[in-house]
Amino acid sequence: MIVVERVEELRARCDEARGAGKSVGLVPTMGFFHAGHRSLMGAARQATDFLVVTLFVNPTQFGPNEDLAAYPRDLEGDAAAAEAERVDVLFVPSVDEMYPHGAPRTVVHVAGLTEGLCGAARPVHFDGVTTVVTKLFSIVGPSTAFFGRKDFQQLAVIRRMTADLDLPVDVRGCPLVREPDGVAMSSRNAYLDDDERIAARVLSRALREAGDRVLAGERRSDVIEAGVRDLVAAQPLVALEYVEVRDARTLEPRDALDGEVVLAVAAQVGRARLIDNVVLRVDGSHVEVDLGVPAGERGTRSVP
Ligand code: PAF
Repeated sequence: MIVVERVEELRARCDEARGAGKSVGLVPTMGFFHAGHRSLMGAARQATDFLVVTLFVNPTQFGPNEDLAAYPRDLEGDAAAAEAERVDVLFVPSVDEMYPHGAPRTVVHVAGLTEGLCGAARPVHFDGVTTVVTKLFSIVGPSTAFFGRKDFQQLAVIRRMTADLDLPVDVRGCPLVREPDGVAMSSRNAYLDDDERIAARVLSRALREAGDRVLAGERRSDVIEAGVRDLVAAQPLVALEYVEVRDARTLEPRDALDGEVVLAVAAQVGRARLIDNVVLRVDGSHVEVDLGVPAGERGTRSVP
């Protein structure tokens, strides 16, 4: 594995790989790798010949009162993890390297899908994400890019952006990865103290119980959402920001569960803003509840 800091060098390495007939895979990250990131790298390693992982804590996707300065970083540990996942290039640009002309004047904005859910509390977030992802697509030129389904809204937004702009990239969604106690893997779990970490379990428990209600025949979104709200309200360390049933592709609100929907939550737990979700596929009386995979199960599955 080589560590590259300059855009021009990364571009040249990717051109060279494509010139040699290799497919290029991209895993964009903000670092502080956990099993979720590593499962993305595992899936990308299997599916593509030349694997680029980018590690860039992108300032433009953080609002003024968010955790940019505190965001956890561990370049040495991340480089060791990426090496173990047989990554070819780890790209670690500085902010000046990515934004040499200062804050970008050209911003990629996906209307609609970015407005509710996390977009309501984080109004600048998705423009920062889509703009930096477009830049990374343009520098790396991947045939396939891999994103985790924990960031469900981000994945839907990037898919729509890629389709709208005819970007020649196959966007793959990979399973959400959970800790043994059910908590969704997140770099922000590092902010939690012991009590908060235990309290955080309520989110995945509430989603699991919601899945059980759907399996038992419940199809009303408001009833499912109220069940999550009641369970989380009993945990004083967890402040629920939203719980919503949405169409899994368009993210439009859904009154009833039918087809593929996502039940998504966001909550503040101490200093950490956590998100989680369950995907529910409902076809008459047949229901599939997709809560993701436990850490350790290699994330070779992805959804084209
Ligand atoms: O999901 C993330 O870590 C970031 O939003 C991404 C996609 C790397 C863009 O900075």
